[in-house]
Amino acid sequence: MSNQCASSGYDPTMGRNVNGKVVLITGAARGIGAQTARVLAERGARVSLVGLEPERLEALAGELDGISRAAGHRPKHAWFTADVTDQEAVDAAVQGTVDALGRIDVVVANAGIANNGTVAVNPPDALVRTVDVNLNGVIRTVSAALPHVVDARGYVLVVASLASFTALPGMAAYCASKAGAEAFANVLRLEVAHKGVKVGSAHPSWIDTDLVRDIGEDLSIFEEVRRRLPGPLGSTTSVEECADALADGIARRSRRIYVPGSLVAVQNLRTVINNPLTEIGILRQAAKSVPRLEDEVRRVGRAFGRRTVGTDDRAA
Ligand code: NAI
Repeated sequence: MSNQCASSGYDPTMGRNVNGKVVLITGAARGIGAQTARVLAERGARVSLVGLEPERLEALAGELDGISRAAGHRPKHAWFTADVTDQEAVDAAVQGTVDALGRIDVVVANAGIANNGTVAVNPPDALVRTVDVNLNGVIRTVSAALPHVVDARGYVLVVASLASFTALPGMAAYCASKAGAEAFANVLRLEVAHKGVKVGSAHPSWIDTDLVRDIGEDLSIFEEVRRRLPGPLGSTTSVEECADALADGIARRSRRIYVPGSLVAVQNLRTVINNPLTEIGILRQAAKSVPRLEDEVRRVGRAFGRRTVGTDDRAA
């Protein structure tokens, strides 16, 4: 495991072994989902790639075959197109996975998007779409896969965020969706523990993927604010390190995964972060940064990064 990333809730019966497990990952075409699929395939898992961008999913499935073979495993992966906000499509991807790979041991609800501006500047549809993908998409995915995960006495991983327990201007819908995703995982854990199923949530800070890069390229103020954030709140982790931490967490069926691992301190300080005294500094910054952010978003004319999919009709 990378020394920068950490997961908690070690399960000694599973160790680092995902060999032969069937893992369904949403939002697998790019970024954290795609890289986690590569790491899991290398460790012997059979992966079902689910999401938008079918060309990328198909190419990645082929790449995973090569990775499995090179690592001495029998390649058997699958891919399915599904928008996580469409229950029928998600159900079909889950059934297709069981038909193709025989079972589902682990579901990773990873698909996510981020709108780029404040509540005042982004249209309501963009804010709602963010919650729909990041929270309702998690609920739809996990609900569809759960009967199979129960059969396997398996593991559910919800990819939440540092944003589950922090507040940053411009991220109202994103933070709401990730706080909701964390809460969903916390309750589900209690509901399925007696069935032998474990549930975890992952909380990365900034990971170097298109999601973050696109907004950074569009909005200089976003990069400036990010650089000024203290400690792990402002650090960027590579997608490779993040995927290793997620794969370790999946093998251990971890309760929480922090990327980087030092974010555990931020989680433990969440009441301090959100109190009125701490807010004084943030408010002072926000008085300057929010008007600049809103001007920049208006100039860009989009409510999402340029490579975000499934959001074409949502202009800023
Ligand atoms: P990314 O933009 O590189 O990849 C997102 C993936 O989700 C893409 O494969 C895209 O096709 C898919 N997707 C988007 N909308 C979808 C939909 N409606 N249905 C199915 N698939 C859809 O983003 P990244 O960074 O890999 O994000 C993955 C997850 O990690 C997201 O939930 C994100 O919120 C979360 N996260 C990312 C962080 C970062 O700094 N990059 C930090 C914390 C959490």
